[in-house]
Order: sequence, then C-alpha cells, then structure tokens
Amino acid sequence: MVTYKARMVERISLPSREYRERALEQAGYNVFNLASEDVFVDLLTDSGTGTMSEAQWAALVRGDEAYAGSSSFDALESAVADVMGFSHVVPAHQGRGAENVLYGSLLEEGDVVLNNTHFDTTRAHVANQGADPVDCPVEEARDPDSPAPFKGDFSLERARAVVEEVGRERVPVVVQTITNNSAAGQPVSVENTRQVRAFADEIGATFVIDACRFAENAAFVREREADYADASVAEIAREQLGYADALVMSGKKDGLANAGGFVATNDDLIYEQCKQRAILYEGFPTYGGMAGRDLAALAVGLREAVEDAYVEDRLEQVRLLGDLLVDAGMPIYEPTGGHAVYLDAEAVFPQLPAEQFPGQALVCELYREGGVRGVELGSFAFPGTDRPELVRLALPRRTYGREHFEHVADTATAVLEKRETVSGLRIETEPEIPELRHFTAELEPVRS
Ligand code: F0G
Repeated sequence: MVTYKARMVERISLPSREYRERALEQAGYNVFNLASEDVFVDLLTDSGTGTMSEAQWAALVRGDEAYAGSSSFDALESAVADVMGFSHVVPAHQGRGAENVLYGSLLEEGDVVLNNTHFDTTRAHVANQGADPVDCPVEEARDPDSPAPFKGDFSLERARAVVEEVGRERVPVVVQTITNNSAAGQPVSVENTRQVRAFADEIGATFVIDACRFAENAAFVREREADYADASVAEIAREQLGYADALVMSGKKDGLANAGGFVATNDDLIYEQCKQRAILYEGFPTYGGMAGRDLAALAVGLREAVEDAYVEDRLEQVRLLGDLLVDAGMPIYEPTGGHAVYLDAEAVFPQLPAEQFPGQALVCELYREGGVRGVELGSFAFPGTDRPELVRLALPRRTYGREHFEHVADTATAVLEKRETVSGLRIETEPEIPELRHFTAELEPVRS
C-alpha cells in the first residue's frame, strides 16, 4: 500500500519520437549521454535519485557546516548506532569513497577478497589495492527462472574451494553484499550471513557487509525466512548487520539521501586506520566529503528506511513493475529484486550476438519507443566476461507510481512488437579503461 503523498513535484514530459531519435543519435546510442530533461521515466539507477521526505528536508536546512565537531555528524553517528548497531562512523562522499577508505586500510598486494558478488566499484577498489576480487555466488543466481528465495546468498562451498587453493593467509577479508546488486538485486538470508560470520572466524578474516540495500534485504528476510516472520524490519536489519566487523555503506541507496556514504565498525583498530585514510582521501572524520546538511538528511533517511511501511511499499513497487512487464510479455529475471527489475535481452533479441550488444540495443529501444532510460549490464558493461545480457530498470525511491510503470510496460509492448527488426550496435569510440566503457563509449547501429 502506498505510504506517502507528493507535496513537491517535478514536471516531466515525453519528447516527440523525432526528438528522441535525434537525441539517441547525438548521445552515440549511449543513454548516459542523454540530458535528464529528455528522459520521461528515468530508471537508470536507484542511487541518489530518490525523493527525500519532509523530515529530511527540514533536517537539511539545519545542517551544521562546521569543519570539525558538526552536530549533523553526531546525528548520523547516533542513527548508525540505533539502526545498524555500530558505534564508530567514518563518513565519505559516497559508497565508493567508503570502499577506498576501508579496503585501502584492510588490504595488501597479493590478497584475495571473497564476495557473494563484487559490485563494479568494489571490484575496482579491491583490485586497486593489488588484491584479487573473487566472486562466490550460489548456483541459482545464474538462473533467471529459479524461484529460490535467497539467490543473493554467498556460496560457502565456492569460498572454501578458493581458500583451499590459495591458503587462508591470503584471504584477510570476506564480504557479503546485501542485497546482491550484481546478481539482480537478490536477497541474502540471515542464516547465510551467520554462516559467513563463522567462516570468516574459521579462516581468521575480517567480515565486511556492503550494506547499501540492507533495509530492502531485511524486508525480504521477513517475507521468506521462517524464523523472522514476526520480527520488524528494523530488528532484522540490526541482527543481520551485527554479524559484521565493518560495514561499507552508500547513503544514496537505503540511506534515502542524494549523496554520502560511510564506513561503520565497532572495532577500534579498523576505526583508527579508516579515520587516518579518510583524512587523506575524503575529509576530516566529522564530515568526510559530505556537507553538514547531507549528513543531517542521511541521519534521518537511515531511520526512515527501516520503517516497515516504507520498505514494504518499496518491494511492492518493484514487484508491480515486474508483474506489468511480465503481462506485457517481457522476459525478466525472477523473482524481482529489491531495487530493480532486470530484463533478459538475450531472450528479447535472439538474433543479436553478444558482439552486437543485445542489452544495449534493448536500452536504446526503450528510450526510442517511450523515453524510458535503463542501464545495460551485459556484454557492453562487462567486456570479456560471460555475464547474462541483462538490462536493469532500477526504481528511484518514493519517486514513481503505477502510471509511470504502466507507461514502461506499454513501452515494452512497443519494443516487443518490433523485436525482429531491431539491429545490433557496434562501438565507435571508447575510453582507455575497458571496465568503464559503458559510461562514455559511443556506438552506432550495425546496418545489415
Ligand atoms: N556497493 C554496491 C552494492 C552498489 O550498488 C554501489 C553503487 C556501491 C557499492 C557504490 O556506491 O555509488 O555511492 O559510490 N551502485 C549504484 C548503482 C551506482 O547504480 O547500482 P556509490
């Protein structure tokens, strides 16, 4: 059930088909190059794109911009303690800043890091320390049709095999990403978190939780893990996060804010190391690259994120979009995750080989047909891997409603009607770093 009403609105409009065609061409068939005013329903990401509550806006105005000892930092510290159960907080400008601070403190060259699935920036920060990021997803994560409840889980079997191979001394850090963004936003059970905690103890590793979408994860746990059916989302979140030695967090997701992130820990040594590194890369530890007003808005957002009514509505929204797309005949990854619906582009365009980027072709058609912006997470974004050809439609929090989703479903219908005539794409210009090419590369249709 919807749990809020709008008191501030932003005008949107659908540009004409001719305009969209031209905009797409000028953007080099890369929707990262589109102006946001040319997008009708923007599902590029759920990161920092949501709508803040009136309480957050009120807090924002009272943000304390002191360089040191800001009371807005105190508000964040007490929110992290209450909601997540950690007493030390090192703020950062966003999640990847927190990753740089934490992984730079914990890792050395030659180390191996195990993660259910590394998010792109996590992988890059681990690699940047000279360490080797290794994914340990469960088998079902690869299957878009398996109804398994916790397809985001960390595979202990895979992790044990890696440790056996490289030796436990080389694995100082084990990470669990909840929900598992790179595995279609699938949740992780508390039971799995408990097992990873025990595994980390067994091999003497630090256990880190990437908590970006911790509240959405807790809501799934309540629905799907029998022991937690009667617990509140807030209780589940606190328990699950409590198994970790440290958290990395992007405030742009379940912090319900437009900016910010942090490392949180109860470990004095990790805290000291992170604090020093944060001064170098982010800022003094009571602001860490954030404005005081953003600290204040994040402190309020964290508390709102674990309200049962908010997060239940959030999951319902994603499911509604998924259901409407399935009704339109669009093949999707099931079950839907916590923040996004993932479309199976390979099934939409079986005629397009991976070299012609079927996912990117689908992204372009969604814009061309309905001004809808999603993101490709297949052969274009991850060159050289055998990832499935997925397109993510991520929902900004508290921002869109049923009519927007109906428009997205109608757009999907229009794309499916012309699926056989859609051509693939080839890269025209690309940046030096292949891992980052989907942000800025320009493409061209392959004319047959
Ligand atoms: N970890 C996970 C699981 C993420 O999904 C993200 C960001 C980050 C870390 C980094 O956080 O953006 O604040 O620096 N995900 C966004 C996305 C960008 O669209 O999925 P950040």
